[in-house]
Amino acid sequence: MKRKAVSLILALTMVAATAVGCGNSTTTTTTDDAAEATDEATTEETGAEDAAEATADAVSNADLADKKVGVCIYQFSDNFMTLFRTELQNYLVSLGFAESNITIVDGANDQATQSGQIDNFITQGVDVLIINPVNSSSAATITDKVVAADIPLVYINREPDESEEARWEENGWNVTYVGCDASQSGTFQGELIMDLGLETVDKNGNGKVDYIMVEGDPENIDAQLRTEYSVKALTDAGWEVNCLSDQVGNWAQDQAQSIVANALGQYGDDVEVVFCNNDAMALGALQAIQAAGRTVGEDIYLVGVDALSEALENVLAGTMTGTVFNDHFSQSHSAADAAVNYLTGAGNEHYIGCDYVKVTQDNAQEILDMVQ
Ligand code: BGC
Repeated sequence: MKRKAVSLILALTMVAATAVGCGNSTTTTTTDDAAEATDEATTEETGAEDAAEATADAVSNADLADKKVGVCIYQFSDNFMTLFRTELQNYLVSLGFAESNITIVDGANDQATQSGQIDNFITQGVDVLIINPVNSSSAATITDKVVAADIPLVYINREPDESEEARWEENGWNVTYVGCDASQSGTFQGELIMDLGLETVDKNGNGKVDYIMVEGDPENIDAQLRTEYSVKALTDAGWEVNCLSDQVGNWAQDQAQSIVANALGQYGDDVEVVFCNNDAMALGALQAIQAAGRTVGEDIYLVGVDALSEALENVLAGTMTGTVFNDHFSQSHSAADAAVNYLTGAGNEHYIGCDYVKVTQDNAQEILDMVQ
């Protein structure tokens, strides 16, 4: 199965990803994993389309207004997950769920808190659960108790590992994951830099791309794969890279601002590119870049992921080099459709994918019109 192939690639690359950082940043990799994973991710769409079609047939059969949906979000203050949950709520209502039957709770970035919330949902007898886990590594425990309670489960945004997903399939459980392949977003970040040309990017003329990496939560596969594949896109194209600093900013603007301010203080004009695993951190990086008197597009380049409105406005203004659209519409709709498919008995594949979109000045307005 295609998903298995993708998962195998991801499992292999995760081993490397945990070691990614300045330590092995000059290693030039020779395989085409990124391209393969991207191709595979594109073909994964079929699963989502099939699911949507099945949903369209099934919706009319379900009495959704009476169904109770429990939604666990890892942390309400996360900008991206705020867009996601708002769209999820609206879309569930548009499908016919009663607003009063949709309960969305904040895990406050604490797995123990979230586990208690899941227990409460089970006790209340919700009909379906949609869970954005605080720690993906807790998925097996979560799955076990939700399956034991006979409640269908849709994981979102933070993908459980290969062995966990294999259990769902082997046991025929009503459990699935909805999300995009993070290696694709990393590859797109690398391509945004490559599209500028080495001569433009290599300001200090040492023949290398001297960069800073700001990572999201290190437990999160999105952070691991974006960190790895953004740089891999460059090295696969034969570009030499030099990692000046690789630090964890936990998806947060303020943490990224101080990381980048320190790195700029330490490495000065040698910093040519700042890769951030998400836009919130790219916005923090931009504050630090501007405070240091540097100018994106002239003497430094900056990329993020998500396509937050503020980031898109910066791309349009030239104060960010680019970003990657993390399609919260598609993901939240697929998650809700998957929930409906379980409720109507139509069932789902155990992985429902979507594609990222590379964003430059050329298409930023189009994406902004969509997200605003
Ligand atoms: C997004 C981040 C977000 C994270 C939460 C990622 O896919 O790009 O902005 O913080 O999900 O898990």
